[in-house]
Amino acid sequence: MYKKGIFVATSFAVVAGLGAFFSGIPVSKAADIDAKKLYMTHCKTCHGADGKPTDLGVGLEARDLTDAAWQAKATDEQIIKQINDGTPEKMMPFKEKLTPEEVKALVPVVRSFGKK
Ligand code: HEC
Repeated sequence: MYKKGIFVATSFAVVAGLGAFFSGIPVSKAADIDAKKLYMTHCKTCHGADGKPTDLGVGLEARDLTDAAWQAKATDEQIIKQINDGTPEKMMPFKEKLTPEEVKALVPVVRSFGKK
């Protein structure tokens, strides 16, 4: 009985913690939502595992995400918007496929390509 009580209390703390985790959505923490895996699943085909466009990406005129000048210029909002809305005939929109948290979590992944 006593032990079970502790178990329930612990589970509750975990659930409450998760709630706080997702509602706060600090970009860096959201990266723990396996953002790298999301990138590898949805983005790598065109943008490459390391941000350098693949042949397919180059054919569609995808930018080199490791480009320091672009990294300095692009805002997180622009990156989020691009992932959500895409570009007609170049990059598909992801707002139907990914949750807002997942899209946000991809920003630090995109940023990581700019850091050498
Ligand atoms: C079908 C290929 C394809 C896939 C898949 C794809 N992209 Fe793109 N992406 C492109 C192309 C092409 C562009 C350039 C669009 C343009 O010129 O407007 C682009 C542009 C971008 C840009 C903006 C770069 C700039 O010029 O400002 C970002 C950021 C980006 N993609 C991130 C992602 C992320 C993150 C994913 C996965 C969720 C993803 N892309 C999936 C093809 C793709």
